[in-house]
Amino acid sequence: MRPLKIILYAGGWDVAPWREAFARHLPSATVLSWPTDARADYAAVWAPPLAMFAEQSDLRAVFSLGAGVDHLVPVMGALRGTAVVRIEDAGMADQMIEYALLAALMKHRRWSTYAAQQTARRWQRHDARPRADLVVGVMGLGVLGGAVARALADFGYTVRGWSRRARAVEGVRAFAGEGELAAFLAPCELLVDMLPLTPSTESLLDRRVLSLLPRGAALVNVARGKHLVEEDLVALLDEGHLEGATLDVFRHEPIADESPLWRHPRVTVTPHVAAISVPERCVAQVAEKIARLEAGLAVTGLVDLDAKY
Ligand code: GLV
Repeated sequence: MRPLKIILYAGGWDVAPWREAFARHLPSATVLSWPTDARADYAAVWAPPLAMFAEQSDLRAVFSLGAGVDHLVPVMGALRGTAVVRIEDAGMADQMIEYALLAALMKHRRWSTYAAQQTARRWQRHDARPRADLVVGVMGLGVLGGAVARALADFGYTVRGWSRRARAVEGVRAFAGEGELAAFLAPCELLVDMLPLTPSTESLLDRRVLSLLPRGAALVNVARGKHLVEEDLVALLDEGHLEGATLDVFRHEPIADESPLWRHPRVTVTPHVAAISVPERCVAQVAEKIARLEAGLAVTGLVDLDAKY
């Protein structure tokens, strides 16, 4: 391979493990930091500044350091004509599966009911439920959503999936588009949000849509905070329509001290950790794709700049 220059910008993250991973996987490449006078061949970025792309006119591809690419929306206008590539799985699917399975098990095994009983010092046993009895809906059937839906189905839950454009996942009943949303949601006792953030998914989970879930349903959001209208969720929890929510992502991260989500007895908050980019595995994938592009071969994971995901 020709000697390559890669510009690395890791948003607010610690850049050291990313640099080390590039040194291991592309030892002959020069890794640049922004700002620089040099022109890079490739960029590997999380939440990069727009000014970087005005200067970097020779980029052959821009790699997102995470699965989501909404952090690139503010710079997408400057990326026209450049290949934009997302991270595909790289260890994130397993993490998402663990998180969703934990939430599904808690719902299935009535964890919140037993927690409330413990608070009230009430000894009351509820019937065992077969796994197939629990209907789980997964919204978003991309690399991560598809893996989660399949894993939940393999475990024995009854899984249905919804996506904007029709997609098939083995063992999962698939629904697509706005027209099938109500039918998809109607029996879902647990809804797992794994959608990308786009103009058409922003605030999708509002009072109207969450009310389409059956009474007593629970929500898991491991996708993006901007999908959810948080006040509507809290209202539906307080009215008793929804039983609980497990939230990993929020409209504003970190959530403010005064946010009711911190204190709500039926909300579990985790700090955007459902699936963390593992530098070693992400950079191995980026390096492999760079090698393919240098050899004139196609790569997977290309972002559609019009659809914004
Ligand atoms: C994390 O949220 C990611 O998009 O990888």
